[in-house]
Amino acid sequence: MLIAANWKMFKTRAETRAFCEAFTPPEGVEVVICPPFTSLDVAVEAGLTIFAQNVHWAEEGAYTGEISAAMLKELGVAGSLVGHSERRQLFGETDEGTARRAEHALAAGLRVIACVGETDSEREAGATESVLRRQLAPLPRDPRLVVAYEPAWAIGTGKTATPAIAQEAHAYIKSLIDAPVLYGGSVKPDNAAELLAQPDVDGALVGGASLDPDSFAAICRAALIS
Ligand code: 13P
Repeated sequence: MLIAANWKMFKTRAETRAFCEAFTPPEGVEVVICPPFTSLDVAVEAGLTIFAQNVHWAEEGAYTGEISAAMLKELGVAGSLVGHSERRQLFGETDEGTARRAEHALAAGLRVIACVGETDSEREAGATESVLRRQLAPLPRDPRLVVAYEPAWAIGTGKTATPAIAQEAHAYIKSLIDAPVLYGGSVKPDNAAELLAQPDVDGALVGGASLDPDSFAAICRAALIS
C-alpha cells in the first residue's frame, strides 16, 4: 500500500515544518508527500519520502517556470507526480506531454505517479474507458511507474467514487498496464478503509485531507487494516 499526499499549492516552508513535526507515518505503509517546490528541501530534511508535483521532460533549457529531474534529485526528492487533472485542465497539459515527463523522470532515476481519470461529462457520455485508454497508451511501461486513478468529478468536491466505481476503473486500468493503481478524489479518514479494501486499489492519492497531520495519519492507518 502506498499513501501519497498531494498538497497542491498549499503550505509555506514554515507550515511544512510544522506539519512534519506533527506527523509520524505509521509502520507498515509506504507514505509519500508531494509538497510545493519551495517546500521540497524542508520536507526531505524531515526524513520523509518526498515527491514533486510535476517535472519537465528536458534536462535543462529555456522552459520558464519548469523544474528538471536533476534539480529535484539534487534536493533528495525521490519521485514526481505527472499529469494531474489540474495540470491537464487548467494548464493545458496533454497525454503526450505527460508521457514525456514520465519517461524523462524515470530515465533520470525518479519514481513516477502518473495521474489519469475522466471528467464528469466524459463519465456521463459513457467515455470513461476510452479516456483511460487514451491517457494510458503513451505512458512508459516501467516497474517504477505507479498510476493514480483520479476521476476529475471527485477531486475537491466531496463526491467520492463509490468503492464499486473505483474498483471497476482500477480493474480496467490494470487490464491495460501492469502497475499499482492508487485512488484519488475526496479520500477522507472516514471513507479510506472501504476504498482501500477493494482488490485493485493499491493505495491512495490524497488532496485536502492530507493537509492536516492527524487526518492524513488516520488515512495512512486505514491502509494497515485494509
Ligand atoms: P482531494 O482529496 O482534495 O479531492 O484531491 C484529490 C487530488 O487531486 C489528489 O491529487
